[in-house]
Amino acid sequence: MIKKIFTMLLMLTMVGTTACSAKNSATSSDNEKKQVAGKALVVYFSHAGDNYAVENIKVGNTKIVADYISEITGAHQFEIVTHKYDGMAYKPLCDLARDEKTKGELPPYEGNVDISKYETIFVGGPVWWGTYPQVMFTFFKNNDLNGKTIIPFTTHEGSGLGSCVEDVKALYPNATFKEAFSIYGHDVRDGKAQVQQWLKSLGY
Ligand SMILES: Cc1cc2nc3c(=O)[nH]c(=O)nc-3n(C[C@H](O)[C@H](O)[C@H](O)COP(=O)(O)O)c2cc1C
Repeated sequence: MIKKIFTMLLMLTMVGTTACSAKNSATSSDNEKKQVAGKALVVYFSHAGDNYAVENIKVGNTKIVADYISEITGAHQFEIVTHKYDGMAYKPLCDLARDEKTKGELPPYEGNVDISKYETIFVGGPVWWGTYPQVMFTFFKNNDLNGKTIIPFTTHEGSGLGSCVEDVKALYPNATFKEAFSIYGHDVRDGKAQVQQWLKSLGY
């Protein structure tokens, strides 16, 4: 009952869904495609386990989208991994995430990536309380993406892109941003065609 009330409150706080329309597509030659793919990186965070609308999932929703992007474009990946939320039920995770956001905490993550090799960076994560999870902001603090082409994406349950694009833009005023993409988390398993359509509109 408490979970239901909480999830309803959470949904009420969510901003309107942002639909993502595909623009005209320019077909790249195989050569161009290879060149772009060689320089693209997908940086993402995704939480497997107990979650809203999909219950307990073995593979996080955003990871599925990140994998579609790599499969279609050949982009490399860097997953932002933290074990801070391992095994947590949905409700306590929501509380913790809200607390982290309020306090502006920057939880550490594992490993690193050399972003100097990449010109284009897809940045993706779930929407948590209207924006990307705080651990992604730790990555943003550690990596200067100014001068890069950034392509944001989110998975969500009602907020669409939330304030993710604005929040990343504010951090990197000298980056170029391309059309962002959002998809409902509970749709990703049947959502490859939507991802494909979005990437096509970007020239992939
Ligand atoms: C802590 C937490 C906060 C969330 N906050 C929101 C939100 O503000 N807006 C929204 O649309 N969905 C919200 N959700 C739902 C997730 O964005 C959605 O389930 C997403 O697809 C999860 O992706 P993942 O499996 O890659 O982590 C939240 C989920 C969690 C666990």
